[in-house]
Amino acid sequence: MQVETGPAPSRKLGGYQFYREVLGSPKYIVAPMVDQSELAWRRLSRRYGAQVIYSPMINAKIFVDSTNKTYRKANFDLMSGEEGDPTTDRPLIVQFCANDAEQLLESAKVIENHCDAIDLNLGCPQDIAKRGRYGSFLQDDWDLIYKLINTLHVNLSIPVTAKFRVFPTVEKTVEYAKMLERAGAQVLTCHGRLREQRGQNTGLADWDKIRAVKEAVSVPVFANGNILYQSDIDACLKATGADAVMSAEGQLYNPALFAGIEHPIDSPSYDSDEQILIRHPRHADLALEYLEIVKNLKTTTSVSGIKGHLFKIMRPGLVKEQDLREKLGKVKISPKNMKECIQAYVDVCNEMKKRMELAENQAAGTSLKDLITVEPITGIKMMPHWLAQPYFRPSAEQKKAYALAHAQSTISSDTTSEDAPLTSKRHLDEMPEGAEQTKRPRIEPETLNTLTIPSASSAMVV
Ligand SMILES: Cc1cc2nc3c(=O)[nH]c(=O)nc-3n(C[C@H](O)[C@H](O)[C@H](O)COP(=O)(O)O)c2cc1C
Repeated sequence: MQVETGPAPSRKLGGYQFYREVLGSPKYIVAPMVDQSELAWRRLSRRYGAQVIYSPMINAKIFVDSTNKTYRKANFDLMSGEEGDPTTDRPLIVQFCANDAEQLLESAKVIENHCDAIDLNLGCPQDIAKRGRYGSFLQDDWDLIYKLINTLHVNLSIPVTAKFRVFPTVEKTVEYAKMLERAGAQVLTCHGRLREQRGQNTGLADWDKIRAVKEAVSVPVFANGNILYQSDIDACLKATGADAVMSAEGQLYNPALFAGIEHPIDSPSYDSDEQILIRHPRHADLALEYLEIVKNLKTTTSVSGIKGHLFKIMRPGLVKEQDLREKLGKVKISPKNMKECIQAYVDVCNEMKKRMELAENQAAGTSLKDLITVEPITGIKMMPHWLAQPYFRPSAEQKKAYALAHAQSTISSDTTSEDAPLTSKRHLDEMPEGAEQTKRPRIEPETLNTLTIPSASSAMVV
């Protein structure tokens, strides 16, 4: 794909022209993720099919202070020259949260020559966003949102885009999206969940609302929510008519979510070992590859971010190898001892690799397809535990239904009790849009009360 290099483009493209000529008509997008869509992750993700990636959210109110070098370096390291590099880190959209147009513009100006667009976060539902009055908590102040977007639209040399959550009604959601477009947003990312859909209430994203938005606006629309397996991608594009899908959590657990995607899902070889391994590589290999990228960058990667990635990528193995999980958890996070930290991570991953190879060898002779099982509570198919794959937390309803069906008062399952140690408090805090939640693509709420596996569930097709 041809990406303009050097200084800001002299011709500012908008809408579909921007989507085609600058972004390269992408369909597979990696979401903005605090502490997780950092440079090292972006490099790994591009190797596995991601076409456009968003930076983690940067707070314009803090970034605008040029004396705060620590925050600037940690969030977009201009000195290293690697972030936004035209050959290795593009297309890149850098996301800000803000509630002050001047702060936003000044911050965006610092970055505008190093990315392809600036995105405004209108979706973060976390308490920290409520306190700071940004993200989804601007949703009711349309004048302010208009001003924020329009200021960037008029004054930046690159386009402005916006990522937002839906409202309870289709009508209001559509009206809102049209306002964002009028303000100057050149791409809209619609996350099909309400502001209230977080924590225990996350539930499913509403693809119908995304479709309504897509039909109402003229700029490209990225659909976000419920993407876990490759089969969900096609289903989402068909159901919403969106130009692209964006994944956050699904892609974190399996960074190869978009790999080999050109292989037809209805071809007989779709479930061959070779194709499954392209879509679900061995997770210890992915973890080691990621660490290799981290090691070779001049740009510093946050050590807590690295740990978060390793816990997610290797989750299926860590569930079984408790001692490795503990070992990984105990690695001292110290930015001053970066080298030792990374070596400790590498040691855990190498040990994991050894054990996973052993498990794989024991299963030799059986095709991967025949090793796929069904997770008893959610009914979702699970790959063998040495392969990267999405992770689902069962909803309260699903757990209840399972317990009832098995006449148990408590459920002991590797998908429930292990959450707390696996995901540090810090990482839960940093999953602004309900990342820690149950996801089950396109399964209607009423089916959550049963153990029936709907044949239409795209998650059943790996
Ligand atoms: C670890 C993590 C960090 C996130 N940080 C951001 C962020 O910085 N900005 C943002 O707009 N959304 C953020 N989100 C929300 C995602 O971009 C996305 O909208 C949400 O997770 C729904 O997509 P999914 O169903 O594919 O996970 C984050 C999500 C996760 C899992």
